[in-house]
Amino acid sequence: MNEVMKTILKRQTIREYKPEQITDEQLDALMQAALRAPSGRNGQPCHVRFVQNAEMLKEMNVDFKELVGYDTPAYTRWDTNPVYHNAPTFIVLFAEGESYMDGGIMCENICIAAEGMGLGTCIIASVGALFAEGNEQGNKWKRAWDIPEEYKFLIAIAVGYPDEKPEMKPRFEDRIKVIR
Ligand SMILES: Cc1cc2nc3c(=O)[nH]c(=O)nc-3n(C[C@H](O)[C@H](O)[C@H](O)COP(=O)(O)O)c2cc1C
Repeated sequence: MNEVMKTILKRQTIREYKPEQITDEQLDALMQAALRAPSGRNGQPCHVRFVQNAEMLKEMNVDFKELVGYDTPAYTRWDTNPVYHNAPTFIVLFAEGESYMDGGIMCENICIAAEGMGLGTCIIASVGALFAEGNEQGNKWKRAWDIPEEYKFLIAIAVGYPDEKPEMKPRFEDRIKVIR
């Protein structure tokens, strides 16, 4: 099996990370993967921030928890684990409009590139609550990250060296069919 297929098939969500930061070379590669992502009419609507400031992420998590509360679904382990899962790098995608498809495509490009370099990822939609329109805590972070307040949150990704090896999650195989 070719290396790309192997990488796609072994990607899985990681929610526990080692504290070491990813290397600048890996960071660069992830930025390239983001930049080379396709977008409708090559409109390139995504504005992406690779946040590697641990203090900032801790503070963002406090804002998030104050906003959404602590009683959240178990699988994300939000009782013990911050919304960014203690990953050393947190990638956030915003766009001027509702470019969720372009955001999703860029997101998977980043995740597969990360997997190919031995890094773990977790795609995170839930943190979007923090950036909902008119939410001052979210606007504070948009300002800090040079994102206009009116831009919409698309998706976020936690990235780092995996510190767990979960079971692969099952899939509904009958949802994928060939019609000939
Ligand atoms: C659009 C999207 C949003 C997600 N949001 C979250 C999230 O907010 N928090 C989280 O811990 N995992 C989140 N996940 C990860 C999923 O829970 C995970 O991909 C799914 O359970 C399948 O597991 P696997 O990635 O290991 O195959 C999200 C995944 C996707 C694709």
